Amino acid sequence: MTSKRHASLPFTTAAVAFAIASGLSCDPVHSEGVDRLGSDPSGRKNGPTHRPGQPCLVCHGGQGPGNAVFSMAGTVYRDVNSDVPVQDVRVVLTDAFNTRVAAVTNEAGNFYLVESQFAPAFPVTVLLCYGASCDPKDTAASVVQPMKTHIGREGSCSGCHVEPSSNKSPGRVYLCTTQQATGDFPPLCTSLGATK
Ligand code: HEC
Ligand code: HEC
Repeated sequence: MTSKRHASLPFTTAAVAFAIASGLSCDPVHSEGVDRLGSDPSGRKNGPTHRPGQPCLVCHGGQGPGNAVFSMAGTVYRDVNSDVPVQDVRVVLTDAFNTRVAAVTNEAGNFYLVESQFAPAFPVTVLLCYGASCDPKDTAASVVQPMKTHIGREGSCSGCHVEPSSNKSPGRVYLCTTQQATGDFPPLCTSLGATK
């Protein structure tokens, strides 16, 4: 009686197609990941400044509940110990084919890229830069902060950058570190309020 099994196939396919099209998730691991994030601690309504510091792609990775689908997204803070976000940081991402994009952080410190802007071939390298130039020697007019290792495939910065910093996590993504030569923050970081 194989004809009966065949008859049920189109229905199953249609149901799966419907679930994908409507952004519903039938993946329990994904649903748990979304549930675990709970409501937004920032209290902001859904949009570009919500959920700072959270792994954006848990919800914006194509399985919902965010309709917008990002290839990479995250949040930049002032320094390792602060919850102060920094606006206007250029997050410079370079992929395996040397395709380079610069996303700019908003007032929440958030940035995000959709696939039409950046569909990276991993691994991806990251550099933060702030101020007039991206020249690490120009410490009076700019702050440059590279990530030394590369990103293998995770699109959410907070997929790895989880608070607090420990041997398992680099902590939040931050712009300002003290300069080796002087032990001071770069001038622009001081003007952002960074203190030791
Ligand atoms: C717990 C799930 C969840 C997380 C985590 C999350 N979002 Fe969202 N986001 C949503 C939902 C739901 C909406 C409303 C539906 C939509 O517009 O995509 C939304 C909307 C948005 C929008 C508006 C999209 C549009 O086209 O109008 C932006 C931008 C956005 N989120 C950015 C972010 C960024 C950046 C992060 C990480 C710092 C983030 N979101 C983390 C669920 C989430
Ligand atoms: C696969 C895990 C992983 C992902 C994903 C990741 N990072 Fe990192 N990041 C690290 C680790 C580990 C370090 C510490 C060692 C180093 O500098 O490579 C780090 C360090 C950094 C630093 C230097 C220290 C700091 O926090 O300022 C910056 C800047 C940075 N990452 C930015 C980012 C940005 C922006 C993203 C998202 C586009 C991102 N990272 C995604 C693992 C990750």
